Amino acid sequence: MSVDKQSLLSAARAAAEQAYAPYSQFRVGAALAFADGSMLTAANVENASYGLSLCAETIAVAKAMTDGKRGGLVAIALSGPDVDLISPCGRCRQVLLELAALDGSDPVVWGEGSAGIREWRLSQLLPDGFTA
Ligand code: THU
Repeated sequence: MSVDKQSLLSAARAAAEQAYAPYSQFRVGAALAFADGSMLTAANVENASYGLSLCAETIAVAKAMTDGKRGGLVAIALSGPDVDLISPCGRCRQVLLELAALDGSDPVVWGEGSAGIREWRLSQLLPDGFTA
């Protein structure tokens, strides 16, 4: 199953436009692609109590799990139009791993900021990650 990088990044870019980020002004969009051909998106949602803010990737994983997804995660695209470079925060790496580990996949991760696109595998971003 190959995922079109530009299409997934474009979905992440569109998702970033729906970010609710009045406190940080830092919009993030995430798009997840699955082996069955499905795709979903999310964006960060902040709170007046700053620490309660939710990252785009975490919301995307929650959407996936509540849609019944249990693995099959093949690609993750992130868009951070307000920064040069973007990569998932540490907490999101762990949250993404929970979904990926359900079927032992190691999804590709594309992060696009205003300076360009970077590419990793989730295992590079979180080596020796904690799983059940
Ligand atoms: N944020 C994400 O959505 N994903 C990340 O991986 C890093 C940070 C959000 C959280 C907060 O709304 C804003 O970016 C600034 O930290």
